[in-house]
Amino acid sequence: MNNLFEKICNLLTEENTEASLGIKNEIEAFRSSQNINFSPNRATPSLSDEIVRLLKVSEHILAKQLIEAQKWLVWRKTTIPATLISEEISNLFYVCPIMGLDTYIPSKRFRLGFLYQKPNCYYPLHNHNAVETYAVIGGALDWSDGKEHRKLTVGDFVHHPSLLPHAFKTRSLGFLGLWHWSGDISPDSYKVLE
Ligand SMILES: [Fe+2]
Repeated sequence: MNNLFEKICNLLTEENTEASLGIKNEIEAFRSSQNINFSPNRATPSLSDEIVRLLKVSEHILAKQLIEAQKWLVWRKTTIPATLISEEISNLFYVCPIMGLDTYIPSKRFRLGFLYQKPNCYYPLHNHNAVETYAVIGGALDWSDGKEHRKLTVGDFVHHPSLLPHAFKTRSLGFLGLWHWSGDISPDSYKVLE
């Protein structure tokens, strides 16, 4: 897992924003003060297999470490409150929180984690107060803010200022991204817009 955290820090350095460098500093401070304890996790083996298939064809610097980390990482349903997101939408993706409240690295200022969106599905326009960045680790994405459209592939970053709407459409491989939130990191402002 140390390798995974090292690569996450490398990616945050590459992004080189105030938020990404703040997160990197918190991860490094945490790692130097204590060990991050993981227990083997095979609660979702078929999901992990799906994610590994996607990562095996990715050349991203995090892909190899993420494949190795699958036996430790806990994938779960979204942390957005069920009152704010329909079951139909929340069934499209899984998250693996790494930093924030109630996860491996505690932080009151930032949230960071992985998101896996299933193949051939549309996560409709939504927004939130938090400022957000995604890095594409595996697969591809048709991204939109409701006006502009972009095709995102491995190695791309996309930045969402506070309240910018964003929608994700996946293709045959699905999408795996590293995301982080800063600013108002409460999920209470999350809203689906269509
Ligand atoms: Fe978002």
